Amino acid sequence: MPRSWLILVFALSAAAAVARSATVEHTFNVRTLSLPRVCQPGNISITAVNGRVPGPKIEANEGDTVVVHVINDCPYNVTVHWHGVFQRGTPWADGPSMVTQCPIRPGHAYTYRFNVTGQDGTLWWHAHSLFLRATVHGALIIRPRRGAGAYPYPKPDEEKTVLLGEWWDARNGDFFIGSSLGSADAYTINGKPGDFYDCHTTPNRIAKFEVRRGSTYLLRIINAALNTAFFFKVASHTFTVVAADASYTTPYETDVIVIAPGQTVDALMVANASQGCYYMVISSYQSAFPLRPGSFNANVTTAVVEYVGAAPSEQHAPALPAMPELTDTTTANRFYTSLTSLVRPDKPTVPLDVDTRMFVTVGLGFSSCDPAQKSCRGTAGGVAASMNNESFALPTAISMLDARYRNTPAGVYTRDFPDQPPVVFDYANVTKNVVGSSAATLSSTGSPSTKVRALRYNATVEMVLQNTALVGRESHPMHLHGFNFFVLAQGFGNYDGATAAEQFNLVNPQERNTVAVPTGGWAVIRFVANNPGMWFMHCHIDAHLAIGLAMVFEVEDGPTPDTALPPPPPDLPKC
Ligand code: C2O
Repeated sequence: MPRSWLILVFALSAAAAVARSATVEHTFNVRTLSLPRVCQPGNISITAVNGRVPGPKIEANEGDTVVVHVINDCPYNVTVHWHGVFQRGTPWADGPSMVTQCPIRPGHAYTYRFNVTGQDGTLWWHAHSLFLRATVHGALIIRPRRGAGAYPYPKPDEEKTVLLGEWWDARNGDFFIGSSLGSADAYTINGKPGDFYDCHTTPNRIAKFEVRRGSTYLLRIINAALNTAFFFKVASHTFTVVAADASYTTPYETDVIVIAPGQTVDALMVANASQGCYYMVISSYQSAFPLRPGSFNANVTTAVVEYVGAAPSEQHAPALPAMPELTDTTTANRFYTSLTSLVRPDKPTVPLDVDTRMFVTVGLGFSSCDPAQKSCRGTAGGVAASMNNESFALPTAISMLDARYRNTPAGVYTRDFPDQPPVVFDYANVTKNVVGSSAATLSSTGSPSTKVRALRYNATVEMVLQNTALVGRESHPMHLHGFNFFVLAQGFGNYDGATAAEQFNLVNPQERNTVAVPTGGWAVIRFVANNPGMWFMHCHIDAHLAIGLAMVFEVEDGPTPDTALPPPPPDLPKC
């Protein structure tokens, strides 16, 4: 090679090494896909991206620009949400249908553009319209900045994405759109149900992870299931949890991981068992009390962890780990409360001066409006979900962010989301709040409403999330768009500010975008509203979001041009 070329090659690679950011570009073709059923003969039609479930994995480095061209060739309206991405300066790209944008209609396309700056770890993307996220989802992995960053733990030899999902054999799009969901027919690991659904007849039914003895693996675990929290184990192996929801944690050793819908967990696993095969298993955590028999699938789903190079004499049938009981709240709570954030000099710490305090009940209640009326929602018997007794409904004419931008909220939303529930009662006590009791009557929801809590730019918000037991207590995974929040404390029963304050972790509380509020209990979160926009907060159980377990924060503009809401991208879909 001539000398000048060598110099050029050297110069180019040096330039690449110092390049701080890049553009990561994808095209998502959203189409109807026919796949074999898990437990019945024949195929079903589902909606998927690029012909796969899970869909494509997006891999970026901190500071990169992500560009995704979404081409909607399916028969439904579609939007895509980038779960956990802050979207600072790009609130129009967040994705929830009718909150930040009108959906992409069938036959139309839209390009999402945003930066992944100031955050790294395991996130994911999913449809945020109707129930389409059941099959329209995938991983979004942000590695530390090119050339600069490294993980704050020993570098693993390899990374494995482990995406957990739910599968319905009886589903087609219309079923999903028309009704609330029953029990899943299978849980899945990377789209596959594993060995314990005997009805399964198709080949290639189990996900396989090859490992080398002595190597360390970073498992990036994502719960993309619509409605189910999971216990996760690998026989004969333990984990060191190093991050949750793309926030680094103090290393936490455990043999069981608990993960609610919407959450992610990064865990190191050393392949230090004897050569052979081991099952990776997920089973559901059922937090509802009373338990609703028939409302969930009690099966386990498996994948295989296979040591490469095992001699024939070392090969054996995969070992199964002992899984917690379905209702093992003690194990779930131990995991959820054991995480703390990794304190690092460049990371924000928990804000100490609170200026906005909210006490918000979350749970299922009874709809007091006439079920025959169209605006009434919920299943037979009038079950509706609410926050502070407000059962949330999406607007239909224009998106909430558009209404805020044009300063025309009238007819779209109102700014009266309450900071307190309308009545004080024994929130957490299921035995006293029986159907038809006065507490139930008092806390029945009226017609669905579209209420926001307006927040001054940079306000520090403390929110107590209190589960109610009017229909039954249950752990609700509460997800906030646009921010991470600190989880200061969690507990069971009714929140008591005086005693809870003593439990607050103000040193290294875990930072998340989705908190599983303990069943029949409470969690306290704090965040700084430094991101102007309209930010959805909702239960990440889709069946509950659909019946109103949601609200929206309207974060006002800051004092500078770059802290003001930008105009919508010119090609944003119209309603
Ligand atoms: Cu991953 Cu609004 O949700």
